[in-house]
Amino acid sequence: MTIRRPRKGLMHTCDLKIVNGKVCLEGGILEGGIAISSGKIVSVAKDVSLPSSAKTIDAHGSLILPGLIDPHVHMRDLELSYKEDYYSGTCSAAAGGFTTVLDMPNTRPPTNSPKRLLEKIPRAKEQGVVNVGFYADFPETSQEFESLSDLGIVGLKLNSIRPTSKIDVENDEILRWAFQESARRRLKVAIHAELKKTVDALISDLAKSGRNAARDFLYAHPPAAEVSCINRILRIAQGVDLDLYFCHISLPESVELLQQSKRNGKRIAIEVTPHHLTAGEELVDRFGTFALVAPPLRSRESAAALWRHYVDGKVDVVGSDHAPHSVAEKERSNVWDVPAGFPGLETTIHILLDRLARGQLTLNRILESCASKPAAIFGLTNKGSIGEGFDADVVVVDPKEDFRVDSSTFHTKARYSPFEGLVLKGKIERTIVEGNVVSENGEIMAKRGTGRVVCPVR
Ligand code: DOR
Ligand code: ZN
Ligand code: ZN
Repeated sequence: MTIRRPRKGLMHTCDLKIVNGKVCLEGGILEGGIAISSGKIVSVAKDVSLPSSAKTIDAHGSLILPGLIDPHVHMRDLELSYKEDYYSGTCSAAAGGFTTVLDMPNTRPPTNSPKRLLEKIPRAKEQGVVNVGFYADFPETSQEFESLSDLGIVGLKLNSIRPTSKIDVENDEILRWAFQESARRRLKVAIHAELKKTVDALISDLAKSGRNAARDFLYAHPPAAEVSCINRILRIAQGVDLDLYFCHISLPESVELLQQSKRNGKRIAIEVTPHHLTAGEELVDRFGTFALVAPPLRSRESAAALWRHYVDGKVDVVGSDHAPHSVAEKERSNVWDVPAGFPGLETTIHILLDRLARGQLTLNRILESCASKPAAIFGLTNKGSIGEGFDADVVVVDPKEDFRVDSSTFHTKARYSPFEGLVLKGKIERTIVEGNVVSENGEIMAKRGTGRVVCPVR
């Protein structure tokens, strides 16, 4: 397979240029702008050196970042469109600075066969305002693994506590077979690591003894369930030449365990979420079931240690785990009937930008974990950086302006947030997808179908 490489741009009148900005490159900041033609970046230069253009945006000194890539989003749609659909979900992404999102397969019906995937692709194409890539859950046959690979999935997803696969992933032998089938096609396997039997047993015990408060959810999802699931996965994957992607790692000890395994030669990527990085379980006392997520928020100390690992570069990617549910579902009186998760697309980058403004995080770490590493890990070869020949996926951010988390302004159908009311430094001004301005000051400017379906280069 040939690897697509960024092409050098031609210097003629371009379609659009963004000037008077601070272009954020991994080597540092360039005062100037970028020129865009036919959806590609054709020049990155000081303003005087940019070509003439049909249209110009003055960035007024704001940051020009590569479009953010969120590898962990639940776009729902199909029978769960009441929670989110490809239009509302991608509008939420655009408003949050994400130009590409990777969509999880635990939908209704679940995406666990080529046929199911083919039901989703046209909907995303017709409705999306940003780029969408797809995961599938493990199918039943070797032939279906092959077809899913041909259809361009970004990877397979194993949700250990709530499996939606057609195969029995609780059975080690069967899971090993699925890992081998994935490895044969260089398909990455993304994992939600919580041991099902531990969590199910705790839920059953707690429910039987009449415990059903929001905090009881935390006891049903203990740290040990995450760590023992990681150990199970590593054991089963031993000797299989497989790329593993660990979703929403919530504990510093899990990062350490996975780092050890990386040192031993396993190909592993580690994802964390902004909520596990910056929030503790006290949010459950404040927001009740609206702050429940799996894996759950942990102690403040644990979050602080996870944050240090992130800052130190021991974590590869930040994913939002955007997991919208209806308010009625989140308000159910019995905690065991409440679905876990909350929206994240419209808060994620703001949380990180605020830490940047406070000097607790570097711009480079944001660029790596939210753009270049997700692009590299998932084979999105022309994305994730600003440079000549790259896709013109860009986000313009004013790092000095305040952003107040107000869920009533969200574009997602899930209008609530455990970050409600926070005033954060740094505001998104514009999101541009392959040269098209899709959002401006929180307003959606693009029509449905502006985004593309993206497939990895493996
Ligand atoms: O909190 C969660 N929500 N964790 C999951 O693993 C699934 C997700 C969802 O789909 O709602
Ligand atoms: Zn998960
Ligand atoms: Zn998820």
